[in-house]
Amino acid sequence: MARLLRAFSVALLLLPVLQLMAAGRTDLGGPFELTDQTGKTVSDKDFHGDPVLLYFGFATCPDVCPTDLAKMAIIVRALEEQADIELTPIFVTIDPSRDTPERLAQYLAYFHPSFVGLTGSNDAIAEIADHYAVYYEAVPTDNGYTMDHSTFTFLLGADGQYLAHFGRSESAPDLIAQISARLTESQD
Ligand code: NI
Repeated sequence: MARLLRAFSVALLLLPVLQLMAAGRTDLGGPFELTDQTGKTVSDKDFHGDPVLLYFGFATCPDVCPTDLAKMAIIVRALEEQADIELTPIFVTIDPSRDTPERLAQYLAYFHPSFVGLTGSNDAIAEIADHYAVYYEAVPTDNGYTMDHSTFTFLLGADGQYLAHFGRSESAPDLIAQISARLTESQD
């Protein structure tokens, strides 16, 4: 019980720190070279031209990632229909040993046909996660491990620059409005 309480209070203490880390940093983003869901090597430059919604997670995530990816798909569809904005949704795995390109292709097709899945070496994943102040950690379970991870969604402009990030408590309609406003203003 004491150990449980201690773990709980550490998590509570850590949460605002992690949020501050992401919120306070103005240098988020940076170059990367990873493998997409078709097995092709891609870099950040391959995504320049359209704004990007970026999320970090793992395909075996039981409920957080599927919920957030479904929300991303709603946003991508709405912005295309309502504002003629083509957002590229990108999912970066923080569990690269299980999330192969094939696995990501299969998983992401379920959410939206435009989804890009990115995987790579442990070092390459650690580097892009660090660029976005994303926290992740393997947590042992009875039959293997699961991943603990932060759940921000990042908005990048068509030039690949970081514009904003959002917590998962924001509703899809709020995000659609905020992203649309942000992208319109960054074009001026
Ligand atoms: Ni997840």
